[in-house]
Amino acid sequence: MSMNVTKAVFSRKSTRGFLKKSISNSLIKELLCKASRSPSGGNLQPWRIFVINKKIMNLFLEFQENHPDFDEPEYDIYPPNLIDPYRSSRYKLGEDMYSLLGIPREDKMGRLEQAAKNFNFFDAPAGLFCFIDKRMGPPQWSDLGMFLQTFMLLAQEQGVATCAQECWSLKHQMVKKFIGADKNLMLFCGMAIGYEDKKNLINKLSSSREPLDTWVEFIK
Ligand SMILES: Cc1cc2nc3c(=O)[nH]c(=O)nc-3n(C[C@H](O)[C@H](O)[C@H](O)COP(=O)(O)O)c2cc1C
Repeated sequence: MSMNVTKAVFSRKSTRGFLKKSISNSLIKELLCKASRSPSGGNLQPWRIFVINKKIMNLFLEFQENHPDFDEPEYDIYPPNLIDPYRSSRYKLGEDMYSLLGIPREDKMGRLEQAAKNFNFFDAPAGLFCFIDKRMGPPQWSDLGMFLQTFMLLAQEQGVATCAQECWSLKHQMVKKFIGADKNLMLFCGMAIGYEDKKNLINKLSSSREPLDTWVEFIK
């Protein structure tokens, strides 16, 4: 498939249902290596990535079963009092997702079960855990974000689907213990990686975007 940047940007989406098909470590390595061409202030390259794939994924999921507790995240996933229009965007995404799946607001268990699929990497064969040194500040977090988007677009070019997952920050202690991460590292997010299950209804979700005039102003 020929791909250009616009195509990659428009076809990438958060994939929440994967095929059992495996992905090779060499392909993941190639994507990471290319993604490291992302810019970063002062060329600090502050991303620290751990890959779990193949039998390590099975071991990880088993380890998680024995460590079911949730942690207080090390950072606020959202600001404590999310204001509009951000609040409405977040609400809309949730409502669009659950109405697509036919899980009404009253079905708390159904919604929880869907959310819990995050912790199975949505059945993806591989996953990343993306860390940043705790001594880094907002500019370096932004660098990490750029790295992640570059990775996701490069993956898209190879027909590889992804979903960034902040939810893993709710399990940062377990993740750190499993991978043996340095105490100075903070888990920002995970990322599911693999091949999209096109038959899975959840992947029909199409997220909207705020109109341009909400967030851009051409000064006259
Ligand atoms: C840093 C980051 C963390 C995210 N965490 C989660 C997550 O934990 N679970 C999830 O289902 N989606 C997660 N998402 C996906 C967002 O919901 C998604 O990017 C947004 O709704 C826009 O949809 P799109 O990615 O399909 O364009 C995350 C996205 C980003 C960038």
